[in-house]
Amino acid sequence: MKTITKMQLSCGRTVKDVKNNKLITLAIETSCDETSVALLADGREVLSNVISSQIDVHKVFGGVVPEIASRHHLEQINGVFSEAMSEAKVTPDEIDMIGVTYGPGLVGALLIGVATAKAFSFAWDKPLVGVHHMQGHISANYIAHKDLKPPFISLIISGGHTNIVEVTDYNECVTLGKTRDDAAGEAYDKVARVLGIGYPGGPVIDKVSKEGNPHAVEFKRVFLEKDSLDFSFSGIKTGVLNYLNSEKQAGRDVNAADVAASFQLAIMEVIVAKCISAVKKSKHDKLVIAGGVAANSLLRKMLSDECEKNNIAFYYPPLDLCTDNAAMIGCAAYYKYINGGEDDLTLDVCANLEL
Ligand code: KG4
Ligand code: ZN
Repeated sequence: MKTITKMQLSCGRTVKDVKNNKLITLAIETSCDETSVALLADGREVLSNVISSQIDVHKVFGGVVPEIASRHHLEQINGVFSEAMSEAKVTPDEIDMIGVTYGPGLVGALLIGVATAKAFSFAWDKPLVGVHHMQGHISANYIAHKDLKPPFISLIISGGHTNIVEVTDYNECVTLGKTRDDAAGEAYDKVARVLGIGYPGGPVIDKVSKEGNPHAVEFKRVFLEKDSLDFSFSGIKTGVLNYLNSEKQAGRDVNAADVAASFQLAIMEVIVAKCISAVKKSKHDKLVIAGGVAANSLLRKMLSDECEKNNIAFYYPPLDLCTDNAAMIGCAAYYKYINGGEDDLTLDVCANLEL
């Protein structure tokens, strides 16, 4: 990464200029199954955030098929870009820099976004800023809560991650705990698949659980070692499978809503307890949740109740900023850029990029 001084940005403006005349970011996100382009002013004001979802395409396969995802990004990206530009009423010469997700994610999918961003950067001679997808998820909260700034404790919870981190600065964090096997979203998706209730699993289980009894089946709560902030979700997935098999062998009907609600409560009790414990152990008084599973209604309710009891300020993004979108990537890119972070045309994708 090339380092530039804080006072002289490579688009020719000074930090002072940037404050007076808003810095316009073009952002691109293609890490999984959403093709998204956004335009932002000064990182936190969204001018447009266009998302083309491939959910219906992958539904028939019960999961994201990487090769199909790449092809769809390729087909969608130009149209999504044009729509985002016209919605924001921004012209290419008004754009100050380009932010793009370069990892983690599906290699082929990431490549479409990064190649597009590089092409714009080269053709328009604008700075290029690579963004960590999960830093983007955290940044969704800066867009939603204008007063929010680091430091704080964050739960990053998605299809690929379940981490409790201390966010020490914009785009900087220290991991306090993480999953040792499946991510929470992955567990939701797998359990929904074995229950045969639809795809993607997270929103379906969230919805179906409202009709079920969360105490119908007592799945084991996995806390691991005392004081550990790590997670393990593979056991509960097996627990659901074993339960379904034993009920089938006994010739009993299974109530999918009861199983979904019981699974969800077992997972969330552990997550909520560990988040509260992480904040209490830290010197911070704010908890911020981020990622696709942050859309979960039970998680939001349980955390907001527990945070209130423990005098912790609780922040979560609106639903449309929880799942993958380019606005959150633009916000993270903005903070990286004004703090001197810029990439060049050698920027490459990194499927397993660490936090
Ligand atoms: O952040 P995201 O869009 O993609 C990744 O970066 O992984 O998260 C997708 C994950 C999926 O596993 C999906 O099932 C889950 O988020 N998800 C939910 C809900 N909405 C999406 N999980 C639980 N409850 C929800 N309401
Ligand atoms: Zn994501």
